[in-house]
Amino acid sequence: MSLLEVRGASSFYGDFQALYDISLAVQEGERFAMIGSNGAGKSTLLRMIAGLLPARGGGIRFDGQAIDALPTHERVKLGVSLVPEGRRVFPSLSVEENLLIGGYRGRRGHWGLGRVYELFPLLKERARRSAAVLSGGEQQALAIGRALMNNPRLLLLDEVSLGLAPVVIRELYDRLPAIAAAGTTVLIVEQNIDQALGVADRVACLLEGRISLAGRPAELTREAIAAAYFGI
Ligand SMILES: Nc1ncnc2c1ncn2[C@@H]1O[C@H](COP(=O)(O)OP(=O)(O)O)[C@@H](O)[C@H]1O
Ligand SMILES: [Mg+2]
Repeated sequence: MSLLEVRGASSFYGDFQALYDISLAVQEGERFAMIGSNGAGKSTLLRMIAGLLPARGGGIRFDGQAIDALPTHERVKLGVSLVPEGRRVFPSLSVEENLLIGGYRGRRGHWGLGRVYELFPLLKERARRSAAVLSGGEQQALAIGRALMNNPRLLLLDEVSLGLAPVVIRELYDRLPAIAAAGTTVLIVEQNIDQALGVADRVACLLEGRISLAGRPAELTREAIAAAYFGI
Protein backbone atom coordinates (compact mmCIF):
# COMPACT_ATOMS: atom_id res chain seq x y z
CA MET A 1 0.00 0.00 0.00
CA SER A 2 1.25 3.49 -0.83
CA LEU A 3 1.62 6.09 1.87
CA LEU A 4 0.07 8.68 -0.43
CA GLU A 5 -2.18 7.90 -3.33
CA VAL A 6 -3.76 10.52 -5.53
CA ARG A 7 -6.14 9.13 -8.09
CA GLY A 8 -7.73 11.11 -10.90
CA ALA A 9 -7.85 14.37 -8.95
CA SER A 10 -8.39 17.80 -10.46
CA SER A 11 -8.20 21.20 -8.85
CA PHE A 12 -9.64 24.61 -9.59
CA TYR A 13 -9.27 28.25 -8.63
CA GLY A 14 -12.82 29.41 -9.28
CA ASP A 15 -13.46 28.54 -12.92
CA PHE A 16 -9.79 28.12 -13.72
CA GLN A 17 -8.64 24.51 -13.79
CA ALA A 18 -5.08 24.23 -12.48
CA LEU A 19 -4.75 20.44 -12.24
CA TYR A 20 -6.15 17.78 -14.59
CA ASP A 21 -6.76 14.18 -13.62
CA ILE A 22 -3.64 13.78 -11.46
CA SER A 23 -2.69 10.28 -10.38
CA LEU A 24 0.41 9.48 -8.38
CA ALA A 25 1.51 7.17 -5.62
CA VAL A 26 4.29 7.79 -3.12
CA GLN A 27 5.66 4.85 -1.17
CA GLU A 28 6.64 5.01 2.48
CA GLY A 29 10.29 5.98 2.90
CA GLU A 30 10.57 7.26 -0.64
CA ARG A 31 11.92 10.58 -1.85
CA PHE A 32 9.59 11.65 -4.63
CA ALA A 33 10.19 14.77 -6.70
CA MET A 34 7.64 16.63 -8.80
CA ILE A 35 9.31 18.94 -11.27
CA GLY A 36 7.74 21.49 -13.56
CA SER A 37 8.19 25.03 -14.77
CA ASN A 38 6.70 28.13 -13.18
CA GLY A 39 2.89 27.89 -13.23
CA ALA A 40 2.79 24.15 -13.99
CA GLY A 41 0.68 23.44 -10.91
CA LYS A 42 3.26 22.17 -8.41
CA SER A 43 2.19 24.34 -5.49
CA THR A 44 -1.44 23.66 -6.29
CA LEU A 45 -0.75 19.94 -6.06
CA LEU A 46 0.84 20.28 -2.63
CA ARG A 47 -1.99 22.54 -1.44
CA MET A 48 -4.48 19.95 -2.59
CA ILE A 49 -2.68 17.18 -0.70
CA ALA A 50 -2.39 19.37 2.40
CA GLY A 51 -6.10 20.20 2.26
CA LEU A 52 -5.76 23.91 1.51
CA LEU A 53 -7.60 23.43 -1.77
CA PRO A 54 -10.28 20.86 -2.56
CA ALA A 55 -9.64 17.97 -4.93
CA ARG A 56 -12.42 17.54 -7.45
CA GLY A 57 -13.20 14.15 -8.86
CA GLY A 58 -10.92 11.29 -7.96
CA GLY A 59 -9.56 11.05 -4.46
CA ILE A 60 -6.63 11.25 -2.10
CA ARG A 61 -5.71 8.46 0.26
CA PHE A 62 -3.14 8.63 3.02
CA ASP A 63 -1.98 5.33 4.47
CA GLY A 64 -5.08 3.77 2.97
CA GLN A 65 -7.51 6.29 4.46
CA ALA A 66 -9.52 8.69 2.28
CA ILE A 67 -8.57 12.18 3.43
CA ASP A 68 -10.42 14.30 0.88
CA ALA A 69 -13.01 15.42 3.39
CA LEU A 70 -10.51 16.22 6.16
CA PRO A 71 -9.53 19.82 6.86
CA THR A 72 -5.84 20.72 6.88
CA HIS A 73 -5.37 20.44 10.64
CA GLU A 74 -6.76 16.90 10.64
CA ARG A 75 -4.31 15.97 7.89
CA VAL A 76 -1.51 17.52 9.96
CA LYS A 77 -2.55 15.27 12.85
CA LEU A 78 -2.26 12.25 10.56
CA GLY A 79 1.25 13.39 9.69
CA VAL A 80 0.97 15.46 6.51
CA SER A 81 3.08 18.61 6.90
CA LEU A 82 3.62 21.30 4.26
CA VAL A 83 6.62 23.59 3.99
CA PRO A 84 5.00 26.25 1.81
CA GLU A 85 6.60 28.11 -1.04
CA GLY A 86 8.25 31.27 0.28
CA ARG A 87 8.88 29.72 3.73
CA ARG A 88 6.33 31.84 5.65
CA VAL A 89 8.05 31.83 9.01
CA PHE A 90 6.54 34.08 11.69
CA PRO A 91 8.82 37.13 11.52
CA SER A 92 7.75 38.64 14.85
CA LEU A 93 8.67 35.47 16.75
CA SER A 94 12.08 34.09 17.61
CA VAL A 95 13.56 31.10 15.86
CA GLU A 96 12.78 28.88 18.83
CA GLU A 97 9.22 30.16 19.13
CA ASN A 98 8.69 29.34 15.46
CA LEU A 99 9.87 25.79 16.11
CA LEU A 100 7.75 25.40 19.23
CA ILE A 101 4.66 26.49 17.32
CA GLY A 102 5.41 23.75 14.80
CA GLY A 103 5.39 21.21 17.58
CA TYR A 104 2.41 22.62 19.45
CA ARG A 105 -0.06 19.78 19.88
CA GLY A 106 2.05 18.00 17.30
CA ARG A 107 2.70 14.33 16.89
CA ARG A 108 5.29 12.66 19.08
CA GLY A 109 8.30 10.95 17.60
CA HIS A 110 11.90 11.36 16.59
CA TRP A 111 11.85 15.11 16.05
CA GLY A 112 11.95 17.67 18.81
CA LEU A 113 13.84 20.88 19.48
CA GLY A 114 17.12 19.09 20.19
CA ARG A 115 17.04 16.94 17.06
CA VAL A 116 16.07 19.87 14.85
CA TYR A 117 19.00 21.85 16.28
CA GLU A 118 21.30 18.89 15.55
CA LEU A 119 20.04 18.86 11.98
CA PHE A 120 20.42 22.63 11.59
CA PRO A 121 23.05 23.87 14.09
CA LEU A 122 22.70 27.40 12.74
CA LEU A 123 19.18 27.54 14.11
CA LYS A 124 20.47 26.71 17.56
CA GLU A 125 22.96 29.56 17.39
CA ARG A 126 20.13 31.89 16.40
CA ALA A 127 17.49 30.42 18.71
CA ARG A 128 16.66 33.68 20.49
CA ARG A 129 16.90 35.88 17.43
CA SER A 130 13.89 37.14 15.57
CA ALA A 131 13.08 35.00 12.54
CA ALA A 132 12.87 38.22 10.54
CA VAL A 133 16.65 38.74 10.61
CA LEU A 134 17.47 35.29 9.20
CA SER A 135 18.86 34.92 5.70
CA GLY A 136 16.73 33.20 3.07
CA GLY A 137 18.54 29.91 3.57
CA GLU A 138 18.17 30.10 7.33
CA GLN A 139 14.47 30.86 6.98
CA GLN A 140 14.13 27.82 4.75
CA ALA A 141 15.89 25.70 7.36
CA LEU A 142 13.55 27.12 9.98
CA ALA A 143 10.48 26.36 7.88
CA ILE A 144 11.65 22.78 7.41
CA GLY A 145 12.49 22.46 11.10
CA ARG A 146 9.09 23.82 12.05
CA ALA A 147 7.38 21.21 9.90
CA LEU A 148 9.56 18.42 11.34
CA MET A 149 8.44 19.38 14.84
CA ASN A 150 5.10 17.78 13.94
CA ASN A 151 6.91 14.50 13.25
CA PRO A 152 5.32 14.20 9.83
CA ARG A 153 5.03 10.89 8.06
CA LEU A 154 4.87 12.84 4.80
CA LEU A 155 6.80 16.08 4.40
CA LEU A 156 5.72 18.26 1.48
CA LEU A 157 8.51 20.63 0.42
CA ASP A 158 7.60 23.43 -1.97
CA GLU A 159 10.60 24.81 -3.87
CA VAL A 160 13.27 24.68 -1.20
CA SER A 161 15.80 26.10 -3.65
CA LEU A 162 13.83 29.14 -4.80
CA GLY A 163 15.94 32.29 -4.65
CA LEU A 164 18.84 30.69 -2.79
CA ALA A 165 22.52 30.48 -3.72
CA PRO A 166 23.76 27.08 -4.97
CA VAL A 167 25.91 26.46 -1.89
CA VAL A 168 22.93 27.14 0.39
CA ILE A 169 20.68 24.90 -1.69
CA ARG A 170 23.21 22.11 -1.42
CA GLU A 171 23.41 22.47 2.36
CA LEU A 172 19.65 22.17 2.66
CA TYR A 173 19.39 19.22 0.31
CA ASP A 174 22.23 17.49 2.12
CA ARG A 175 19.87 17.19 5.11
CA LEU A 176 17.26 15.17 3.21
CA PRO A 177 18.89 11.77 3.82
CA ALA A 178 18.83 12.39 7.57
CA ILE A 179 15.16 13.36 7.37
CA ALA A 180 14.35 10.26 5.33
CA ALA A 181 16.40 8.09 7.69
CA ALA A 182 14.21 9.26 10.58
CA GLY A 183 11.28 7.65 8.78
CA THR A 184 9.79 10.63 6.99
CA THR A 185 8.65 10.27 3.41
CA VAL A 186 9.44 13.35 1.35
CA LEU A 187 7.54 14.81 -1.58
CA ILE A 188 9.43 17.75 -3.02
CA VAL A 189 8.46 20.06 -5.81
CA GLU A 190 11.16 21.84 -7.74
CA GLN A 191 11.73 23.97 -10.81
CA ASN A 192 15.38 23.03 -10.50
CA ILE A 193 15.59 19.80 -12.51
CA ASP A 194 19.14 18.81 -11.56
CA GLN A 195 18.48 19.35 -7.90
CA ALA A 196 15.37 17.18 -8.02
CA LEU A 197 17.00 14.39 -10.03
CA GLY A 198 19.94 14.36 -7.66
CA VAL A 199 17.91 13.58 -4.55
CA ALA A 200 14.83 11.73 -5.73
CA ASP A 201 14.15 8.00 -5.88
CA ARG A 202 11.37 8.74 -8.32
CA VAL A 203 10.43 11.82 -10.26
CA ALA A 204 7.38 13.05 -12.12
CA CYS A 205 6.85 16.17 -14.19
CA LEU A 206 3.90 18.53 -14.36
CA LEU A 207 3.17 20.45 -17.53
CA GLU A 208 0.23 22.85 -17.57
CA GLY A 209 -1.56 20.95 -14.85
CA ARG A 210 -1.02 17.47 -16.26
CA ILE A 211 1.53 14.82 -15.42
CA SER A 212 3.74 14.64 -18.48
CA LEU A 213 6.36 12.14 -17.34
CA ALA A 214 7.15 9.78 -14.47
CA GLY A 215 9.95 7.37 -13.69
CA ARG A 216 13.20 6.78 -11.89
CA PRO A 217 15.90 9.38 -12.58
CA ALA A 218 18.23 6.78 -14.14
CA GLU A 219 15.50 5.67 -16.57
CA LEU A 220 14.77 9.13 -17.91
CA THR A 221 16.72 10.71 -20.72
CA ARG A 222 17.59 14.41 -20.85
CA GLU A 223 15.48 14.71 -23.99
CA ALA A 224 12.42 13.10 -22.41
CA ILE A 225 12.73 15.34 -19.36
CA ALA A 226 13.14 18.49 -21.45
CA ALA A 227 10.14 17.56 -23.57
CA ALA A 228 7.98 16.86 -20.51
CA TYR A 229 9.16 19.98 -18.70
CA PHE A 230 9.00 22.53 -21.49
CA GLY A 231 6.34 20.88 -23.64
CA ILE A 232 8.59 20.91 -26.71
N1 LIG B 1 -4.71 31.76 -5.92
C1 LIG B 1 -4.79 31.55 -7.25
N2 LIG B 1 -5.86 32.01 -7.95
C2 LIG B 1 -5.96 31.78 -9.28
N3 LIG B 1 -5.06 31.11 -10.02
C3 LIG B 1 -3.98 30.63 -9.37
C4 LIG B 1 -3.79 30.83 -7.96
N4 LIG B 1 -2.62 30.25 -7.61
C5 LIG B 1 -2.13 29.72 -8.74
N5 LIG B 1 -2.93 29.96 -9.80
C6 LIG B 1 -2.71 29.49 -11.17
O1 LIG B 1 -2.68 28.08 -11.17
C7 LIG B 1 -1.65 27.60 -12.04
C8 LIG B 1 -0.69 26.74 -11.25
O2 LIG B 1 -0.04 27.57 -10.27
P1 LIG B 1 0.97 26.97 -9.22
O3 LIG B 1 0.43 25.73 -8.66
O4 LIG B 1 1.32 28.06 -8.29
O5 LIG B 1 2.23 26.64 -10.15
P2 LIG B 1 3.74 26.29 -9.75
O6 LIG B 1 3.78 26.10 -8.29
O7 LIG B 1 4.06 25.07 -10.52
O8 LIG B 1 4.56 27.47 -10.19
C9 LIG B 1 -1.01 28.85 -12.67
O9 LIG B 1 -1.62 29.07 -13.91
C10 LIG B 1 -1.36 29.94 -11.70
O10 LIG B 1 -1.46 31.18 -12.35
MG1 LIG C 1 4.87 27.04 -6.85
